[in-house]
Amino acid sequence: MSTPSCFARQKEISRLPRSTDTSAAYWDQLAPQYESLYQSAWSRFEDSELRIQLQRIVASANGPRLLDIGCGTGLAYELLGVKNSAIEYVGVDISVGMLGEFRRKHPEVDVVETAGDSLLPSLKHRQFDIVIATNVAASFPSNTDNMLRQISSVLCVGGIVSLSFLNRYSLRRRLRGERDLIEQYRTRGHREQTYVNARCYSASELVSALNQQEFENVKCRFSSVLGGVWESRASVEVERVASRIVPFLGHAVTVSGRKATEGVI
Ligand SMILES: C[S@@+](CC[C@H](N)C(=O)[O-])C[C@H]1O[C@@H](n2cnc3c(N)ncnc32)[C@H](O)[C@@H]1O
Repeated sequence: MSTPSCFARQKEISRLPRSTDTSAAYWDQLAPQYESLYQSAWSRFEDSELRIQLQRIVASANGPRLLDIGCGTGLAYELLGVKNSAIEYVGVDISVGMLGEFRRKHPEVDVVETAGDSLLPSLKHRQFDIVIATNVAASFPSNTDNMLRQISSVLCVGGIVSLSFLNRYSLRRRLRGERDLIEQYRTRGHREQTYVNARCYSASELVSALNQQEFENVKCRFSSVLGGVWESRASVEVERVASRIVPFLGHAVTVSGRKATEGVI
């Protein structure tokens, strides 16, 4: 990876006017217990798969500047071992609670409190080689088109995007008879009545959305067929088979591509 000429490091959580999205309250109240909900054997399995994907993305990028949308408490930062690497990491999240947990563990991290579809006020002078959103974090910003346009504008030409969304046609949604674009989402193991709206897309919808933004080499990858259906130590082995036979039933669909030309916002 080549080192960029300038990349100003920001040490404080920037506070900007929030977008109209109201989901911050959901994530704020969840933040103190969030990591405890993701300690199972199933979660560890998903993390190990995600680490492999993230390492591949970083290895194929033209530079080290990485933007993590909906970074939460820092899972991607930790899986990539950012602290001991050349990666120049910036996380953004709508929830000050989630960012607070992240900063508590990693006081050195650069994070910005803003919505994924409202990146430009704080990031318009910065450029990135990689933009990621992990564990369906791309499903939460309320204006997906705006998010994609803004991602394109902060990504340098040749930069890589990799965004994880809820799969509209996942096994979990099929079993529940859910077909709508928007679902009422509760994070893993969260039993309370509160929920947050999340947008669900098919692979073809995402491919066409990235093609419209003039990304090249656009493709989708599915993950976690049994996500939200049967998550246990035993189901890990079943998942390994299911993800080979019926990958398109995955709980998440991750769309990726490379920016071809300078975007216009
Ligand atoms: C399912 S969690 C994933 C967190 C992290 N990416 C991970 O893999 O552990 C979704 C994250 O998206 C954040 N989020 C929700 N709505 C958002 C929005 N509109 N803009 C940016 N982040 C948002 C939440 O606060 C939460 O941290």
